[in-house]
Amino acid sequence: MEKSRSASDQKSDALEVGNGSEFKVHVFSSSSELIEKLHEKWSSVKKQPYPAMYSSIFGGIILDPAMMVIPIDDHMVHRGHGVFDTAIILDGYLYELDVHLDRFLRSASKAKISSPFPRSALRSILVQLSAASQCKKGTLRYWLSTGPGDFLLSPAGCSTSAFYAVVIDDDFCQCKEGVKVITSTIPMKSAQFARMKNVNYLPNVLSKMEAEEKGAYASIWVDEEGYIAEGPNVNVAFINHDKELLLPFFDKILSGCTVKRLMELVHKLVEQGRLRGMRTANLTVEEAKGAAEMMFVGSTLPVLPIIMWDEQPIGNGKVGELTMELSNLLWEDMVAGPETQRIPVPYV
Ligand SMILES: Cc1ncc(COP(=O)(O)O)c(C=O)c1O
Repeated sequence: MEKSRSASDQKSDALEVGNGSEFKVHVFSSSSELIEKLHEKWSSVKKQPYPAMYSSIFGGIILDPAMMVIPIDDHMVHRGHGVFDTAIILDGYLYELDVHLDRFLRSASKAKISSPFPRSALRSILVQLSAASQCKKGTLRYWLSTGPGDFLLSPAGCSTSAFYAVVIDDDFCQCKEGVKVITSTIPMKSAQFARMKNVNYLPNVLSKMEAEEKGAYASIWVDEEGYIAEGPNVNVAFINHDKELLLPFFDKILSGCTVKRLMELVHKLVEQGRLRGMRTANLTVEEAKGAAEMMFVGSTLPVLPIIMWDEQPIGNGKVGELTMELSNLLWEDMVAGPETQRIPVPYV
């Protein structure tokens, strides 16, 4: 019996069978023909989702989506030798850009990628790119790559590293609905690779897909010793029955900028007597599943309540009260926090 085939297998079969031997690959005769075709594609899109991109290869900001490309011989493309980070733009301010930029450069150093520019220039490019995009609400994503040069493994032939960034229009808002999660069966990355934000996100993608296939939002990674780690692109946090905020240790996972900020803000709830305290801990699956409240924490959420895990309710199975108070703390910081956290975008 024939094994079940993926949708993409079937699509490529259809292309071959449907056109038979007459199928001939088009050869573009000129770059203007190609660009025309790309413009045709983008002109059918209602709203351009990427208002601006920066590329150190081009040496400037690109506003034409058809030209937002990176070279195929860039080692980030074919070897995964690149790191990235994201900051959000909210109400015309860049939130926590400096913290994200610091993590970005730490990741680059762990991946042995040297930046083509000093930190101050990278920061200035990101601010100018945000201004050129005219985007008031969205995400700013950026990459450092060992650069283009050849298709070998060693980056020795890459004469200069590359910096790319793009602004993405995104109408995110504070998450208020609870979601379901499952325990991931996809092995998590080793600490060395989980702690740097490199572009090798295949385990993360498969873990997210596994959750979606099972009707859940995302998966929870458990480390080899049986302790809770993180989600595929988010940190995870718990409230126990003593009203303590519990966070897994950061030694094997990505140090999330959002959860780190939450740790700075949490004293407000402690002072009001709403929370008893906060600590990092090794949490077993049993302890974690027995928590009163559970949540994901990450840049655009900023807190996403979790109400069900492996079909078992967390606490009373409803969105946790303290979860929402933590969410409000972060959201207020994002929309009206101190100037150190929010950099105004100098739109022209
Ligand atoms: C694996 C992983 N863990 C945690 C996070 C949360 O980090 P942040 O709060 O900086 O978005 C992310 C997102 O960048 C991630 O990719």
